[in-house]
Amino acid sequence: MNSLSIEQQARAAQAYILQELRKTEVGVSILKNKDFFARLDMNFITIFAIFAELYGYRHDCLDQLVDLITMCGKSWQDRSPDLQEVDKQRELDPEWYLSNQMLGGVCYVDRYAGSLAGIKLRIPYFKELGLTYLHLMPLFLAPQPLNDGGYAVSSYRDVQPELGTIEELRELATELRKAGISLVLDLVFNHTSNEHRWAKRAAEGDPEHSAMYWIFPDRNVPSAFERSTREIFPDDHPGSFIQLPDGRFVWSTFYHFQWDLNYSNPAVFRAMAGEMLYLANVGVDLFRMDAVAFMWKQMNTDCENLPEVHKLLRAFNALCRIAAPSVLFKSEAIVHPDFVVQYIDRYECQLSYNPLQMALTWEALATRDASMLSQAIERRHNLARGCAWVNYVRSHDDIGWTFSDEDAKEFGKDGLNHRKFLNAFFVNRHPGSFARGVPFQDNPRTGDCRISGTTASLAGLESMQDHAIERILLAYSIAMSTGGIPLIYLGDEVGQLNDYSYLNDPAKMDDSRWVNRPCYPEQRYAERHDVNTIPGKIFAGIKHLIHLRKTTEELAGGRAIGFYTGNPSILGYQRPGPSSSVLCLCNFSDEAQWIGRDRFMGMPAETKDLVSGYMIKLRKAGIHMKPYQFLWLRF
Ligand code: GLC
Repeated sequence: MNSLSIEQQARAAQAYILQELRKTEVGVSILKNKDFFARLDMNFITIFAIFAELYGYRHDCLDQLVDLITMCGKSWQDRSPDLQEVDKQRELDPEWYLSNQMLGGVCYVDRYAGSLAGIKLRIPYFKELGLTYLHLMPLFLAPQPLNDGGYAVSSYRDVQPELGTIEELRELATELRKAGISLVLDLVFNHTSNEHRWAKRAAEGDPEHSAMYWIFPDRNVPSAFERSTREIFPDDHPGSFIQLPDGRFVWSTFYHFQWDLNYSNPAVFRAMAGEMLYLANVGVDLFRMDAVAFMWKQMNTDCENLPEVHKLLRAFNALCRIAAPSVLFKSEAIVHPDFVVQYIDRYECQLSYNPLQMALTWEALATRDASMLSQAIERRHNLARGCAWVNYVRSHDDIGWTFSDEDAKEFGKDGLNHRKFLNAFFVNRHPGSFARGVPFQDNPRTGDCRISGTTASLAGLESMQDHAIERILLAYSIAMSTGGIPLIYLGDEVGQLNDYSYLNDPAKMDDSRWVNRPCYPEQRYAERHDVNTIPGKIFAGIKHLIHLRKTTEELAGGRAIGFYTGNPSILGYQRPGPSSSVLCLCNFSDEAQWIGRDRFMGMPAETKDLVSGYMIKLRKAGIHMKPYQFLWLRF
């Protein structure tokens, strides 16, 4: 037992590391940098404590730390003056991402613009829309043709040649920055592709590289793990492992060509930290931390959301604080809401997708009942200061019904049955459905299923149902006004429909998520300024929402507060600002609805609706709302 406190141990380790650094020329020059030294001093204890916990049993733990800190120092030295300037600016405005000016967009480079050069040409459009954040879907070297939409990365330092080069990515980051747009890229760090150099060496049997993955000589240990793990992509392979040609088994949570990295090996942590800092220096402002839930494995658990994952994320975060201080993390944890929130912390991921709000917005549209969404805003929306949700209507992925069964039970809903209903509704197997979704990973053994589809197709535009446009705008109004950063899947703003051409492509036909990843809709964009067209109507509606968001200071910052409307079809939430408050009301019914005047006791007799610009009388007869109408009332 070590009788020194963790602080004392950290100080001793830091002294040792400094002494080691002084022995080399690089080390000496790193230590001359006062800024770096100060930040190292502040964050070292975090990294040390985590390393001691995760890897302290290894004889080489300290040497691993020396290498890590040296790499961090070199990375800081390589950081361009432009990026160091961004670091300084954001230090002065540390909550810049909570501004109501923030607006996100996401797209595939190839599908939306052909290449990185094509994305550059679309910057004027991004400015027209008002984007300040652009998430480019994975663009790194990946196996062809199967690569899970780029989420099987073969090199974190090479762009897929058809899309461009790493130098073009660097230039694009600079151009975007000049246009006031932050670059968001995925850090796919749970797994690499089987064509990554590390994986190829592992497949050849090299012990050092085999130790970077979860590889076992036979089925014994894999079968023991699989007794408690969940199948994620059962259409691809059952269980969590696949067999290699040499007979060994490798952990593969997603597709068989995506091999899970073994973070119980500190060399993996160091290697991925190196890739992260490299990309930070290319100009990434924000990393989308892909599939975080799966990063640590432990026998007899489901190997999801384990406490060690949080330690890893904190250590990665602390490294950024030292060597790329303005970089932020957004967690991608599409899991039970109790777990989603555990990733959100200034010292872990400052931002997180809000999958519950996304899924429940669709749930409320299907049921015409906003009770569950209202409960989620009331109960599960709050975050620590300095943290924020990324609120979205749909992503490149499927929609999973990740609500808590206990929450649903309070409304008399059985989780399993309710999910069955939602799946049936969204694939148009339920009377009265307006949606045209497609099932994803339908698992008859477990009953699990998710839904693919674009916003417009899920909202009824494809089936030419009444109110489809209103549904799209209602859903986006919620993402735009519930706090944090709203994220538009580019193409949604012109009502892009499902694309069934994936069914003709052998590399895509088994993954229905391609239905909601269509290519740039040239014609729809061409019509966007003509309000007599459907794309024009949707675009005008979304632009209006963006304008309102950017001119309504109450919408800045973290969270929404619940407001009980007394009418289950009408969702209510408030956004308190410094001197006034905005009350948002959304009618999820396809019929007119009403809120009694008693709900507005103590409020002014009349107030302005920011959406329509009209004054609304509250206390005379309550509020009458048209089907799918939303109001933003300022008090
Ligand atoms: C994330 C991505 C998804 C991908 C998976 C595996 O969930 O959003 O598209 O299939 O990670 O990388």
